[in-house]
Amino acid sequence: MKTRITDLFGVEHPIMQGGMHYVGLAELAAAVSNAGGVGIITGLTQRTPELLAAEIAKCREMTDKPFGVNLTFLPSLSTPDYPGYVKAIIDGGVKIVETAGNNPQKWLPGLKEAGVKVIHKCTSVRHALKAEAIGCDAVSVDGFECGGHPGEDDVPNFILLPRAAEELKIPFLASGGMADGRSLVAALALGADGMNMGTRFIATKEAPVHENVKQAILNASELDTRLVMRPLRNTERVLVNAGVERLLEKERTLGAALKFEDIIEEVAGIYPKVMTEGEMEAGAWSCGMVCGLIHDIPTCDDLIRRIMTDAEQIIRGRLAGMLA
Ligand SMILES: Cc1cc2nc3c(=O)[nH]c(=O)nc-3n(C[C@H](O)[C@H](O)[C@H](O)COP(=O)(O)O)c2cc1C
Repeated sequence: MKTRITDLFGVEHPIMQGGMHYVGLAELAAAVSNAGGVGIITGLTQRTPELLAAEIAKCREMTDKPFGVNLTFLPSLSTPDYPGYVKAIIDGGVKIVETAGNNPQKWLPGLKEAGVKVIHKCTSVRHALKAEAIGCDAVSVDGFECGGHPGEDDVPNFILLPRAAEELKIPFLASGGMADGRSLVAALALGADGMNMGTRFIATKEAPVHENVKQAILNASELDTRLVMRPLRNTERVLVNAGVERLLEKERTLGAALKFEDIIEEVAGIYPKVMTEGEMEAGAWSCGMVCGLIHDIPTCDDLIRRIMTDAEQIIRGRLAGMLA
């Protein structure tokens, strides 16, 4: 399949793996890229720019295909060394960067000069247009159903994607709720040039996370995610568990008086506990409603192959057949 996204990134399939804290390590990024998609290393999971440089070098040993790095600009307890991370990306010869969160304008000149293609992930048409205006090469449009931070507008992809298609000139990926060949065909029909997946890629053989996480995603239905931190305007969609129930109870009790410090136990330092130790009740970790559509743990290669085969079958068989 050839779209503006396969052309832009020089890859075989219009499928990207979004940055995921403590999941987007070299093993997963390389597996996705080797399967013909765009694998992404999550920059901030590496505690220092030096560690990111080492992870990039490790990924390069595992694949000769293009892969990228995610740089997330969100509120955090201490400000990461962004100039150091950008330098590690450029020095490491990485040519694809997925930015997310706040406006990445400040970092664009340096990245562009180094020949890096920048895809900004955003959750609204206005932010997508802003990304286009400041010179991003593409955007990833994350609907309300997405795992992670869906923003505060709550517009699901059936509306958000065609709205993005109405307004944008640059290519864009559909993100949030994408799982299979049906998702890809729907995304293309709504005007996107491909799709970005997060949660689906966690339940793969190569995802370097505890088996409990993969099983939790398999066991979950589309009803098992919750929105947390809404009162702080830092909404995150997470998989429900005992820690998340505790967090939500604090949100209900404290109401508008809620502060980040009140919920620190349920949101800070949770990722290593969940992803590495498999402590599934620890607290808030991102997960999309799409868990309801995830029923197996394939290799990335099998997953992407199946998506492309099914998409082709839907287009040539089911859809074309309806016209005949
Ligand atoms: C466990 C997990 C961690 C994530 N961490 C990040 C992150 O650090 N930075 C980021 O930009 N997006 C992050 N995301 C969002 C994904 O990149 C992607 O946009 C989202 O998962 C798409 O929705 P889906 O899960 O329905 O596919 C995360 C998602 C998950 C599930």
